[in-house]
Formats: sequence, C-alpha cells, structure tokens
Amino acid sequence: MGGKDTTGESVYESTNPARPGEVVARVGLADAAAFAAACRTAKEAQREWAKVPAPVRGRVIASIGRLVEANAESLARLVTREIGKPYAEALGEVREIVDTCDFFLGEGRRLYGQTVPSEMPDKNLFTFRNPVGVAAVITAGNFPVAVPSWYLVPALLCGNAVVWKPAEYAAASAEAMYRLFAASGLPDGVLNVVFADGAQTFAGLELALEEGSVHKVGFTGSSEVGRKVGELAGRHLQSACLELGGKNPMVIMPDADLDLAVEGALFSGFGTAGQRCTSLGTVIVHESVHEEFVERFARAAAAARIGDPEQDVLAGPLLDQKFADRYEEYLTWIQPHHEVVSGSTGRITEDNPRGDFDGDGGLYYHPVIVDGVRPGDRLFLEETFGPIVGVTTFSTLDEAVELANRPGYGLSSSIYTTNPKHAFRFREGISAGMVSVNNSTSGAEAHLPFGGNGKSGNGSRQSGMWVLDQFTRWQAMNWDFSGRLQKAQMDVAEIVPDLEFRI
Ligand code: UN1
Repeated sequence: MGGKDTTGESVYESTNPARPGEVVARVGLADAAAFAAACRTAKEAQREWAKVPAPVRGRVIASIGRLVEANAESLARLVTREIGKPYAEALGEVREIVDTCDFFLGEGRRLYGQTVPSEMPDKNLFTFRNPVGVAAVITAGNFPVAVPSWYLVPALLCGNAVVWKPAEYAAASAEAMYRLFAASGLPDGVLNVVFADGAQTFAGLELALEEGSVHKVGFTGSSEVGRKVGELAGRHLQSACLELGGKNPMVIMPDADLDLAVEGALFSGFGTAGQRCTSLGTVIVHESVHEEFVERFARAAAAARIGDPEQDVLAGPLLDQKFADRYEEYLTWIQPHHEVVSGSTGRITEDNPRGDFDGDGGLYYHPVIVDGVRPGDRLFLEETFGPIVGVTTFSTLDEAVELANRPGYGLSSSIYTTNPKHAFRFREGISAGMVSVNNSTSGAEAHLPFGGNGKSGNGSRQSGMWVLDQFTRWQAMNWDFSGRLQKAQMDVAEIVPDLEFRI
C-alpha cells in the first residue's frame, strides 16, 4: 500500500440512506493527536516525493486514472449505496476523477516556469513552481470521490504530500478511493487518510499548523465551518482553499426557451436531491412568464421519479440522517406568504407517500417548490441544502442581477435567454465564480476554474491550471554572470528621450 491509513478508538458506522438499517462501513475515528501525527508522517514523506521528477509523478497520476477507470462501476455502486446518489450520477462522479487525472498527467510534463528578461546585462531571471509541502484536505460527502480528487490529484502531481479527512458518512467510498490511489505505487506516507469528527479534526489541524507540518488547507463544506477553517489558516499566515456553500440563482428572461429552463431547473433543483453546492437555490423569473414557468416547473417536478438510487431516478434519498434533520429545519422557513406549488412536503412515508412510493424506510423527501419568496426571507437568503427551490419575480435585468447577488454567496449562477446582450450583461453583473447560459447551475466541467466568492469562498479556484496556484508557490531566481555586483534599479542603462518633442 502506498500510504498510511490512520484509525483510532471510537467507531463510526456509515449507513445506506436508502435503507438506514444497513451499515456500509465501520471506521475508527482518530483524535486530534493522531491527525497531527499523520501530518508529521506526511511532512517526512513529502521531501522525497518532491524529488521525484514531475513527469514521473505525472505517470503515477496516469495510473490512478487507469485504476479508477477500471474500477468505475464498483466505485460508483459503492457511492450509490453509501450516500444514495443515483447510479448514473455516481458514474458521472467517478468519470470526473478520470477527467481530472487526464488533465493533470500532462501537467507533469509542463508545470511551466518562466525565463524573464533582466534590466541588467549578463543576468538571467527565472521563475519556478515549488510544492507547498503538506496539504491537509477536508472534504464533504455529497461528492465523496470527485471533489476530493480535485485536491488530491493536483496536490500530489505538484509534489506535495496529503492528509485527507473525508466525511465520515462517506467512509467506505473514501476508503475505496484511497486504496485505488495507493495501488498506483505512491510511496508510503505521501497520501494519508484520517477519519475523525469535526472537532478532533479542527484541533488536530491547529496542532499541525502550530508544529509547521501543514502548509495548505483545503476545505469543502459549509460556509460556517469554512469561515472557522479560513480563520485558523489565516492565523498561521496561510490562505486556505475554500469551496463553500451556495444560494445559486437562475434568472429566466422573457425571451427564454421555457421548456429548456424547466428542464434545467428540475435537474439543478432536485437532481442529487438538491445536495450539490451548485444546486439551484432561487429561480428569479420575469413577471411576464412567471405563471407559465411555475405551472410547467411544478408539473415537471410532479412527474419526476424519486426512489431507489440504483434505478433510473431523478433523485434518491438525502445523504445521511444529519442532512435530513437539517433539511426539515429549512422546511420550517416556509411562511404564510409563500405558496408551495409542488404538493406534499417533508419525508416520504406510508402516511405521506409520493404516488405509490412510500419511501421504503429511506431518507426520501418530497421535492418542494416555494413560490412568492421575497428578498428578506430566510428561504431567499440562506443555503437550503436539499430538495427545495424558491421562486421570485423581477421586471428589469438590473433588478434580476441585484436579486441574484443579494444573498451574498457567489458560487454558481445561470441565465436562460435567447438574447446575447442579456447573457453578457448578466455575466458582468453577477458575483458568482461560475455562470451558465441556457444551462443549469450545476454540472461544471472538470477543467474550468471551480470556486466562489463571498460566502461561497475566499476566491480560491480549483480544477484546471488554476488550481496549480493553490498547490505550488512561485519562486523567483536571478542569476548574475557579469562577475560584478549590478544593483537593481540603480545600475540600469538609461536611454534618454526628448520628451519635449512635438510634431
Ligand atoms: C459540489 O457539490 O461540491 O458542478 C461539487 C457540479 C459538479 C461538482 C459539484 N461537477 O455540479
């Protein structure tokens, strides 16, 4: 095995949300000291790993991609079983790891630095990308394998070691992913997995930062926890890579193709049971098409299949009991001035069935569309991770942009229009890191910059060439071969212009 797996004393059971009685994995949870110890192990291993030539590290990434591809179906099946993601989506998620490996295996032969002209003769300037050292990566379980790969793959390729703390409720998927990475021949200690709860992880991270054995923190999760992680990293003069929540808006212009918009709203609102960080939050629809849109959207939601994620369904259950509990809290934010246009709300049970589906004891919830949401409402302002979408109206594009930015997140956004002018005006005005035109808010491709602003993150970007700036630090080198001390800014040749010259 090419890595070190840290386990601990207390045991956590990860269960299948479609059949909560079924335990998918049992893992030992580590304490803060064990987390910090893993960071020290990583620090030790990183020195040698950084000496492996980048193209050779690229070959390791290539092997990881092949291993994941060859195990795609079993990994996807495990993801479906553990977090209830429909199998087709789980396969797509696994594909995203392969895409990420495909992109970065070639980066091993680039990792370009520059040669830069000097202001002095007989002097050369260069830039190099150096690995940061040890990256501590803490990930959520809604994308239990794809999102971790966005950190792990580039971090390893750049010559860093990694300590990865996956979500406990996705432990089996994380363990499988770790084993696939380890089978690529990664040297011992370069990739370490630690299962731990939030409090112990935070305390362990603090210890490791104090000891100087973590040099980059990556975190995907809620804005609330992201703020704390960012603060902690900041105290150690580091900037964390933060991928946080979203309240992703979809603007529908009067000139939009409404069928397309409904399809996009359905997928981004209720696909993955609304549990992507890129899921649709609020539809901001022009008043002239509001009635028609809502009517069609409600019809589409009613016709969508919710059920066993191993079947062909739009959505399966929620990820885990704690997400179901939190989601039920969001449902209490529905106010008397709101209109639920989608029928039943809450958990699908024998007493609250969805057609002939009684929920089978799983954590299944009715998709909810709430019309009449206003800018001051909690439903409008805060992320509601789960299958609930608000609808509000606007009259001018400026007003739509202002509404779309109001909650202060800034991850993803979307506009449906057939007028290019509207698309570009929206792009300019929206604060989100990602903008879709005539496409849903979710489903970003693996080689574009992924990340947000405001409450969605601190401006860090993952994926593609942009993530290299997270896992490397620029080093500038100058080499003077003139044989004398040439002082910058002082010993520079001057060419005197005649600035009084006029034609
Ligand atoms: C997430 O929910 O944390 O863009 C990531 C998307 C996916 C990734 C979502 N490719 O919807």
